[in-house]
Amino acid sequence: MRQEIKRIALLTGGGDCSGLNAVIRAIVKSAILKHKWEVIGFKGGYHGLYMDEYMKLDLQTISGIFHQGGTILKMSNKDNLFKYKVTDENGKEVYKDVSDIAIANLKRHNIDALVIIGGDGTLTSARDFARKGINVVGIPKTIDNDVPATEITFGYRTALDHIMQSLDALHTTAYSHDRVMILEVMGRNAGWLALEGGVAGSADVILIPEIPYDINKVAQTVFDRYNRGSKFTIICISEGAKPVDGDVTIKAIDKDSPDSIRLGGVGDLLAKQLEKIVKPVTGQDIRLTTLGYIQRGGVTNTFDRVLGTKYGSYAVDMIANNEFGRMVIIKNDRMDSVRIEEVVGSGNTGQTSTGGARIVNPHGDLVCSARDIGITFGD
Ligand code: F6P
Repeated sequence: MRQEIKRIALLTGGGDCSGLNAVIRAIVKSAILKHKWEVIGFKGGYHGLYMDEYMKLDLQTISGIFHQGGTILKMSNKDNLFKYKVTDENGKEVYKDVSDIAIANLKRHNIDALVIIGGDGTLTSARDFARKGINVVGIPKTIDNDVPATEITFGYRTALDHIMQSLDALHTTAYSHDRVMILEVMGRNAGWLALEGGVAGSADVILIPEIPYDINKVAQTVFDRYNRGSKFTIICISEGAKPVDGDVTIKAIDKDSPDSIRLGGVGDLLAKQLEKIVKPVTGQDIRLTTLGYIQRGGVTNTFDRVLGTKYGSYAVDMIANNEFGRMVIIKNDRMDSVRIEEVVGSGNTGQTSTGGARIVNPHGDLVCSARDIGITFGD
């Protein structure tokens, strides 16, 4: 028998991206206007669920947030309630399963369904709450666009806009100084941001995790351009890119995060290598820009406002239809859903039980088109 819904809760977990507020707004509006449900939001991701920190979400609370990046609920990528860091009676830090406290909070608030918006780590916990009988609906979010089963995540296109605009800006200064300009972008183990951002921003070389690069081939592109009169070169490199004879560059390990490895620094490595190979020949300076968190912030673009609205309203429909333990996806350009069990667990390896993160096909259409117009990939 279908469960009647009166009150739902939502939370945002993991790292932020543009479009989260668009999703929150869509959930609150559809829940209230279409179904007359009440909505609360737990603050700071799972931390708020555990500590019972929440806010009522009504039509006033969500007014004016549509275009804003980030999330009015705030978020964290550290709080795994199934392995939560606490201090024991001897003052020692230990990890404990505190999920029952979160469940008790949900019961106390008479929550009929919980919408969990997050990436792989957050949705892995969503799966675990579903296994414990909570009515969960998941919504994937990431600028990396690497979530399996869904064709596109909100936040990605806004991040691409930042990359494109940065590459546009780098062109004028690179040209003026005859320099080799490197832009390091995010994306974890998937090269989507570097690939699509690089093509849109007219990069000459794009280096992505899916195509390990040979430093001498990268240098050759710089020489070829120089010899035909283009005395500057723009390189867009993904943080997860790796040389053919090496591995990814790790910036930090965050033990408390479900996804502990923080990539970063490969742009610096590349700059140092090119400095040795290119500068003695052409005299060009090599300069690095690491775009960093600018990719995740700012005003949400048209596409992500619309996409966020679709994800949010579909999640509400799923709750109304009691389709729990599932995650909203886009398949063949249409809204759909899959069991959360099938898509989570990619973590640092990029692998899930059913195959793995959505990564770039090195022989796919866009890579081929890029090669056709002379963009090189260091292979
Ligand atoms: O997954 C989104 C992302 O921005 C990645 O592109 C990046 O590697 C990571 O998050 C950075 O995480 P943090 O916010 O913990 O530094």
